[in-house]
Amino acid sequence: MKRLRVKSSTGEYDVMVGRGAWRTLRRLEGYTSIFVLTEPGLWECWGSKLARDAGWRLVRPLLVPAGEGSKSLAMAGRVASELSERGADRRSLLVAFGGGVVGDLGGFVASTYMRGIDYVQVPTTVLAQVDSAIGGKTAVNVRAMKNLVGTFYPPSRVVSEPAVLASLSARALQSGLYEVVKHAILSGPAFFQYLGTELAALRPSQTGRLEAIVTRAAQVKVDVVSRDEHESGLRRVLNLGHTYGHALEEVTGYRRFLHGEAVGWGMLLVTRLAELVGLLDPAEGERIAGLVWQAGPLPPIHNLSAEKVLGLLPRDKKAVGGMIHWVLPERIGKVRVTPDVPDTAVAAAFSDVQRGAWHE
Ligand SMILES: NC(=O)c1ccc[n+]([C@@H]2O[C@H](COP(=O)([O-])OP(=O)(O)OC[C@H]3O[C@@H](n4cnc5c(N)ncnc54)[C@H](O)[C@@H]3O)[C@@H](O)[C@H]2O)c1
Ligand SMILES: [Zn+2]
Repeated sequence: MKRLRVKSSTGEYDVMVGRGAWRTLRRLEGYTSIFVLTEPGLWECWGSKLARDAGWRLVRPLLVPAGEGSKSLAMAGRVASELSERGADRRSLLVAFGGGVVGDLGGFVASTYMRGIDYVQVPTTVLAQVDSAIGGKTAVNVRAMKNLVGTFYPPSRVVSEPAVLASLSARALQSGLYEVVKHAILSGPAFFQYLGTELAALRPSQTGRLEAIVTRAAQVKVDVVSRDEHESGLRRVLNLGHTYGHALEEVTGYRRFLHGEAVGWGMLLVTRLAELVGLLDPAEGERIAGLVWQAGPLPPIHNLSAEKVLGLLPRDKKAVGGMIHWVLPERIGKVRVTPDVPDTAVAAAFSDVQRGAWHE
């Protein structure tokens, strides 16, 4: 098990990653009560192990339905009122036990319930263990607007047990692995090459291999958010692949792609874009594309309307004053954030990748 430290505006907190991590929950002290927020299926599968490892007796979790629909203001209100009915006070602890949806919702509720109570992230998906549970961004969606309402509110700690990943579907695992690839591109040749040898035929049951991968990927996120908690600059690099990715999710009504899969395409697209604007050597581009493809197959994009996808790009919420902050790979281990990319190159990159006319 590894202990990573995150620096935040309100102090430091631990990210515990590895086998046995849930047992560190025994060390939580000084709370009047502990509440677990989770989903029914997850609790059924893993609730008794979590309670046993953490040393909790008679846990009656607060349950929300699985799926992005639970990240709503209405659901936050329901969770808060259930907390209140059950007697949660300012010294209560909320444990968010689930993927990014439960983590974002739980963090949001914790940050606002009685003006803020402590919470712990216990992430159960690859995406949540390497990304969403770390860094203290919380949010809910408002109508179709993802993450429109949210807070920066660091957790008291993050506790990631790789064993829980064994029940993920192969596709859900792969979706998280695209985010891991993103972290490897940001990190540099050492992690990148290591991942290249580890990704092939990786299955959810291989928790030992996953433990090593998740630990290294989590470290990348820890390093970035420790240096830039509030996304003033550096943290933007985490958006690699997300500009095109969000447009792909939106144009397909969030039905065709899992988030990581859209980011997978997004990374291929910005890699091509970086080549086209002369920022990236094509041989390096080929290596990046190769690693993305190694994470697994991606749902098709050939039958999407380029015009619609490109039309959705400027609405990226990271756009400031109508500009898009493109995150472009310059080489493995270095990206450049720039608004300075001609529309023609943006369209050409989409066309090349969509036609399969590049590095496939
Ligand atoms: N806060 C941040 O910094 C941040 C960063 C990235 C993404 N996010 C958010 O994270 C969310 C996506 O997270 P996600 O991909 O974890 O989705 P998710 O929480 O919906 O989980 C994906 C699916 O896996 C199931 N599941 C979770 N753990 C499981 C397990 N161990 N075994 C079997 N099934 C399991 C869930 O029920 C769900 O159906 C989005 O809402 C996104 O906006 C937040
Ligand atoms: Zn993402």
